[in-house]
Amino acid sequence: MLTFVFIQSGHLNSKSVLYYFCIMKHKGIILAGGAGTRLYPASLPISKILLPVYDKPMIYYPLSVLISAGIDEILIITNKRDEENFKYTLGDGSKFGVKIQYKIQQIPKGVAESLLIAEDFLQNHPLVLILGDNIFYGGNFNKILKKAITDNKYATIFGCYSKTPQKFGVIELDEYGNVISIEEKPKKPKSNYAVSGLYIYNNDAVRLAKQLVPSVRGELEITDLNNLYLNLFELKAVLFEKDIFWQDTGTFDSMLEAALFIKNEECKTGQKIGCIEEAAIKTGFISQEKCFENISIYPKNQYYDYVYQFEGDKKYV
Ligand code: G1P
Repeated sequence: MLTFVFIQSGHLNSKSVLYYFCIMKHKGIILAGGAGTRLYPASLPISKILLPVYDKPMIYYPLSVLISAGIDEILIITNKRDEENFKYTLGDGSKFGVKIQYKIQQIPKGVAESLLIAEDFLQNHPLVLILGDNIFYGGNFNKILKKAITDNKYATIFGCYSKTPQKFGVIELDEYGNVISIEEKPKKPKSNYAVSGLYIYNNDAVRLAKQLVPSVRGELEITDLNNLYLNLFELKAVLFEKDIFWQDTGTFDSMLEAALFIKNEECKTGQKIGCIEEAAIKTGFISQEKCFENISIYPKNQYYDYVYQFEGDKKYV
């Protein structure tokens, strides 16, 4: 639409078209801060987001979600202690053909604080926020996420069926699937749809996050931001079918469940879940040749063999 206006007013040049696409591009945020107290003492030596979930560090999963969705500018928000470990693990992202920046969350003050921390990075871009301990896989997940990003006008959340919705944000829906309310960890959940840790926002998010006040648990709640969107603009909920696997790996049991699921699925299909290199090749962020060059320094193990044997498009047609 904007491109059309440029053409009509005779201002079309490569710079303006480029600018148009630049301002519309979604940036990605991975919230990997937090004290990880629920996983203490496992998280004593290192951030829980760097702990392995089966065969790779937890952060590989949300990072490959963003890359598969076509997002190539990513901010990782870490705690102060683990910043260097994250940088050591992922670097500046160039080995995956993306740009990764890092910022510190000094004290864990809630998921919505990530938007305030990310203000300079976002530069008014729309964004996709994913929690570092959330794992998504299967069904048409990648397609659904890409479509939701394209369709998003204001804010989009993703609902997953849960037998224990009281542990999460919970979506109340009307008969047409419109969101009526979101409640954070309600004692009496109004549905079985938990809000997963994946959110798409337009460029109002930072401005709205600045209006939030800490909840009783002392946090800037992402649920409060979602309710602001609901009241002021529009909040869309995309509900995942049960063929999409979602796990918040914030507890020992859920982390183990996720690891077992990934092990079984990888053994069954012969394909890795959360392989960043594969996601980057498939998205076209890096050529297969360049990626192979990069991985030549990896230890020659099962992961190396997998990436090296990856056949690009052929595997995914
Ligand atoms: C956060 C959100 C909650 C959401 C959950 C998903 O909870 O506050 O609404 O359902 O992530 O993982 P927390 O992990 O901070 O308890």
